Amino acid sequence: MSREEAPSGAARPPDPKSPARAGDVQASPSPIVRMRGITKRFPGVVALCDVTLEVMPGELHAICGENGAGKSTLMKILSGVHRPDEGELVIHGEPRRFEGTRDAERAGIAIIHQELAIVEDLPVSANVFLGREKRTSLGLLDERRMREECRQLLEPLDGRIDPDCRAGSLRIGDQQLVEIAKALSLDASILVMDEPTSALTESESARLERVIASLRAKGTTILYISHKMDEVFRLADRITVLRDGRTVRTVNRVETTPREVTGWMVGREIAAGPRGGRSVGGRLLEVRNLTVPWPGHARGYRLADVSLELAKGEILGVAGLMGAGRTELLETIFGAGGNDWTGEIRLAGRSVRFRHPKEARDAGIAMVTEDRKRLGLFPDFDVTANVSICELAAAGRGGLLGRRAEESLVAGQVRATGVRTPSLHAAITGLSGGNQQKCILARWLLTAPQVLLLDDPTRGIDVGAKAELYSLIDRLCREGDGIGVILTSSELPELLTLSDRIIVLAEGRLTGEFRREEATEERLMRAATGDAHGSPRREPRGHSAWRP
Ligand SMILES: Nc1ncnc2c1ncn2[C@@H]1O[C@H](COP(=O)(O)OP(=O)(O)OP(=O)(O)O)[C@@H](O)[C@H]1O
Ligand SMILES: [Mg+2]
Repeated sequence: MSREEAPSGAARPPDPKSPARAGDVQASPSPIVRMRGITKRFPGVVALCDVTLEVMPGELHAICGENGAGKSTLMKILSGVHRPDEGELVIHGEPRRFEGTRDAERAGIAIIHQELAIVEDLPVSANVFLGREKRTSLGLLDERRMREECRQLLEPLDGRIDPDCRAGSLRIGDQQLVEIAKALSLDASILVMDEPTSALTESESARLERVIASLRAKGTTILYISHKMDEVFRLADRITVLRDGRTVRTVNRVETTPREVTGWMVGREIAAGPRGGRSVGGRLLEVRNLTVPWPGHARGYRLADVSLELAKGEILGVAGLMGAGRTELLETIFGAGGNDWTGEIRLAGRSVRFRHPKEARDAGIAMVTEDRKRLGLFPDFDVTANVSICELAAAGRGGLLGRRAEESLVAGQVRATGVRTPSLHAAITGLSGGNQQKCILARWLLTAPQVLLLDDPTRGIDVGAKAELYSLIDRLCREGDGIGVILTSSELPELLTLSDRIIVLAEGRLTGEFRREEATEERLMRAATGDAHGSPRREPRGHSAWRP
C-alpha cells in the first residue's frame, strides 16, 4: 500500500510541540506497523524476546532502552535487515516477511542506521543513490541529476556538504547527514531513525528537527531511537520502552516523565552524578600558543594561538561548535594530527612533540575518539582483543602478557566500564553501539594513562551507563595521584556536569574560559559563537547557533 492509501487520520499537525497529538493518535483506527511476539536470537544472546510494538499512522514513536536492550535489532527486523526467529510483522494491515532491505523499501520503509554504512571511496551523491542510481534515457549514469537531487536533499540538513566530495573525507557528523539524506531520498512512508543525532552538533540536530516536522506534516510515520531524553520528550507522541530484549510498556508522551521512562529502562536507581569539588594537584599538561596551519583553507589555520593548562585530578572541558577545532586540539596533543604545528606542549614539565599516537601512549596519554568505527574498533577481533590491544602492544616490549593475565585484566576493565557482552570472546561487531564505545574506553583505561583525552566519549551511551561513566571518570581523577582529563562533548550538560573548568573554542581560537561555578549553557554558547560580550556577531557558516 502506498502512502496515499494510508488511513486519513494520518496527517499530523506540523507543530512538534503540540501536546494534544497524543490523544489524536489513540483515536486513529488501525496501526500502520504491528510487530507481535518478535523473538530474535544471536549466538549466545536472545536479543529480542516476545516483543510487541504497534505504531499508528503519522505518529512519531520513540523507542527507548539501555545499550543492548534490542532497539536497533527490532528496527532492523522492521526494515528487512534481519529476519525474526519468531513473531509476525504486519504493515498497513498486511502480513509481511521481508527477505532484505529492498523488500522493506518497496513496502515504504526506510532506515537511517546507527552505525553508518558509508562507502568511503565514493562521492557523497553516489552514496545517496547507491543501488538506485539515476540514469539518462541512454542508460548512462546521470551524475548531474544525482548531484542536483543530492544537493536538494542535503540543503535543509546542512548547506555545506559538497555532493562531489569523497564521503570518506567527511567528519562523522557529516557522514551521518549523508546517511539521513539517503533515507530521505527514498521518500518512505515509514522512516526509522536509529540515533540520528548522536554525532550531530546541537545546531545540526535543530535543523534535523525541522526536517522531521516537515516530514510529519506530509504524514510520514517515524520511529525514533535516541538516548537523549530531552529530544524524545520534545518529539514523540508515544514512547515504547525495551529492557533486556522485552517490551516494558508503551506510553503517551504527555502522560509520563523522563524520570519515569528512565526508571523503566534501567529497572533500578541511577547512580548520582559526580558532585564536583575535586581537589586539583600539580600541573600535568601545558599547551602554549598552539597553532595548527590549514593549507588551502581561507582561514589558514585549524587552531590559532591556543593555550591551556591541565592539573592532576582536573577535568577540563572544551566547548565549541562543529569546526571550532575541538577534535584537532586533542589530536594534536595526542600526535594524531599533522606534525606541522607550532607552539609548545609540555607534559609533566617536559617539552614534547609526539609524531604518532604510540609515542603519546608511551608517555602516558590516552585518547578516546568520537568515531569508533574509523579510529577505534578492530572489527575482526573479539571483545578481549579489542580491549587489550594497546596493553598487549605495551607488554610486548617488556615480555609477553599471558593469555590468562590478559583475560583477567580485560574482565576487570569490562566490569568497571559496564560493558554488556555475552562473553569476553564475542565478536566486537555483535555488541550494541553503546557497548562498543564502552570497550574503547575500557581499552584506554587499561593503559593506566596520566592524561586522558576524551573526544565526545558518551556518544550513543545510554543514560544509566552515562551516569556510571561519569562516576568512573570522576573516581579516576580523585584516586591516588589523580589523572587529568580533557573532555569535549556535543552535549553541554555533560560538560557542565563533569568539568572543573571549561574553555571555549570558536573557529580555531580560544574565546572563553569559565570555572565550574561560572559556566552556564548560555555563557558557553555565547563564547562559542564568538559573542562573549553579548554583541551581535556574524554566525559561523551553516550553523545558526547552539540552539534554534
Ligand atoms: N549481528 C549481531 N550478532 C550478534 N549479536 C548481536 C548482533 N546484533 C545485536 N546483537 C546483540 O543483541 C543485543 C541487542 O543489541 P541492539 O544493537 O539491538 O541494542 P540497542 O538497544 O540498539 O543498543 P544501543 O543503545 O547500544 O545501540 C545485544 O546483546 C547485542 O550484543
Ligand atoms: Mg542501537
